[in-house]
Amino acid sequence: MTNDERGFKRTVRSFVRRAGRITESQQRALDELWPLWGVEVSDAPLDVVELFGREAPLTVEIGFGNGDSLVQLAAEHPDHNYLGIEVHVPGIGHCLIAARQASIDNLRIISHDAVDVLSQQVAAGSVSRLNLYFPDPWPKKRHHKRRILNPDFLAAVHACLAPGGTFHIATDWRNYAEHIDELFSVSPLFRLDERREHDGDQPLDRTVTKFEKRGVKRGHRIWDWRYQKIG
Ligand SMILES: C[S@@+](CC[C@H](N)C(=O)[O-])C[C@H]1O[C@@H](n2cnc3c(N)ncnc32)[C@H](O)[C@@H]1O
Repeated sequence: MTNDERGFKRTVRSFVRRAGRITESQQRALDELWPLWGVEVSDAPLDVVELFGREAPLTVEIGFGNGDSLVQLAAEHPDHNYLGIEVHVPGIGHCLIAARQASIDNLRIISHDAVDVLSQQVAAGSVSRLNLYFPDPWPKKRHHKRRILNPDFLAAVHACLAPGGTFHIATDWRNYAEHIDELFSVSPLFRLDERREHDGDQPLDRTVTKFEKRGVKRGHRIWDWRYQKIG
């Protein structure tokens, strides 16, 4: 449990830590590559110029899963900096292996709850683009409170984004899509730039992800949004 800004204990998280199996190569990647690409958790705002050794637009991706689509994105845009935030340790190991194979140097990773990282470690106004692709849908009604997209999270994303910064979201769950439409329709913080509903064949300015492929295989529709920060 951590204290939030108001001093309350925050117990509802958007994930459950499972003792996921970690392969030998993932463990080796964590041991050898974390010092190169890993960023330790801190409550001091990140100096991104120092972190990447250069000034470039920063994209943050929350819940990158196994990281394949994030590494692909970073490899396709060497002139941008990328910061991935994930809590699933085997996925982080997988991502480190992919980053080494792609020989990229524009990606850094934080292994912690993104809700804390956004409010404590990502400097206000420092992010050009924030990606949230296929967040855990928590489909049961009693679990809806675990959904990462809620008014507090929107406020935290808004604070991190630079003026004109964009927030990109995708899901393959109809009920979560309805929740997202409702949430943003009453938010004064973002305006909708583009929304797409498709069969996995029209991703909106992004790489295709593992969970998207899984959803499409199951016959799910895909929803994509690009919102722009107001103010
Ligand atoms: C359904 S998976 C999607 C993974 C990937 N984006 C994809 O589309 O393949 C959601 C991911 O978000 C991560 N996650 C959930 N809540 C998180 C949080 N608060 N901070 C960081 N990662 C989180 C989970 O560990 C999981 O890997």
